[in-house]
Amino acid sequence: MSGAVGERRREGRVKHASGLIRALSGETLTPPPVWLMRQAGRYLPEYRELRAKAGGFLDLCFTPELAAEVTLQPIRRYDLDAAILFSDILVVPHALGQEVRFVEGEGPRLDPIADRKEFGRLSDEIDLGALAPVYETVSRVRSALDQSKALIGFCGAPYTVATYMVAGRGGDEQAPARLLAYREPELFAELIDRLVAASVAHLVAQLRAGADAVQIFDSWSGDLPPGEFARWSTAPIAEICARVRAEVPGAKIIAFARGAGAKLADFAGAVPADGFGLATSEDLRVARSAVYASRALQGAVDPIALVAGGEALDRAVDEVLDALGGYPMILNLGHGVRQETPPEHVARLVARVRGA
Ligand code: CP3
Repeated sequence: MSGAVGERRREGRVKHASGLIRALSGETLTPPPVWLMRQAGRYLPEYRELRAKAGGFLDLCFTPELAAEVTLQPIRRYDLDAAILFSDILVVPHALGQEVRFVEGEGPRLDPIADRKEFGRLSDEIDLGALAPVYETVSRVRSALDQSKALIGFCGAPYTVATYMVAGRGGDEQAPARLLAYREPELFAELIDRLVAASVAHLVAQLRAGADAVQIFDSWSGDLPPGEFARWSTAPIAEICARVRAEVPGAKIIAFARGAGAKLADFAGAVPADGFGLATSEDLRVARSAVYASRALQGAVDPIALVAGGEALDRAVDEVLDALGGYPMILNLGHGVRQETPPEHVARLVARVRGA
């Protein structure tokens, strides 16, 4: 790696850009950079061991020493191009004053916001002080990580975070949030605006603490009809990108509207991200033709093929490389690593990508 392309400036130091940042800058790399959503987590025995010691899941997220260690666990095991901060999208409602709990075996539980009275209990602004341990985790990981590897920060997209805030939990096609959006669009718009501002502040703080790129996870907006999708997913994410870049010029951003399908062309046309995440269900060639050639596409190996392993996994990887190769791309899964994934299958996936 040499010359202007392989270098970038951060805080006055010249650094070698990782493959991930180069792909997000529009370079076509063969083999492409690789990282996996949920690459840290319960499929790794060393995670389960540390998690048992930490107490609650949020305690783990808010203890920089442990969160940094969990972030680095998959990097120690595998030749990945990027680490993703170990945290959760629901730290944002927590820092807006909503009660967030993680119930063992059941997932997140929040005190639901169903009406204006409950909305009124939220703070006007995100309490970044409450998230100081997250930013400290970012800076610890950045110092421990090799320069050739990128550190990815993240937030949930306003719509996806709102689905948990309104329902108080996941599931049921996010019906409570969708219902609120139809019945009281002004109230829902205020919630989304609050989350746009909170997300901007949270992403900027991660970038300033040392994150090299950020990803915006919109896990649930793909289910929305096009008009609702444009209003509650595309517009807020486009605004977050613009406002983050106003504070951190050149910030690298990946937008993942999971399952956008035919809505991807309009989404990518309106959202000024550097890369777009693709779900397992997408037709990758259609997606490639729907997005400007200079923007990286990221995805989209089936997490279940990763569970299966063997030649089925090799084929799944090759199909993604064939469909997205020849343009800027980042090899990833179409959704997170599943708990039942044998760790050695991740090593096989990375080896297959490296051999491309
Ligand atoms: O990708 C990574 O490795 C970074 C860390 C990360 C986590 N959650 C850790 C986590 C990231 C980026 C997330 C994002 C997230 N969190 C999303 C968007 C991506 C997606 O999966 O669609 C969503 C919707 C959430 C909300 C959330 N957090 C749910 C629904 C759950 C429960 C489901 C589950 O797997 O238990 C969580 C908990 C959670 N977040 C765990 C991890 C490792 C499991 C906690 C545990 O150890 O028990």
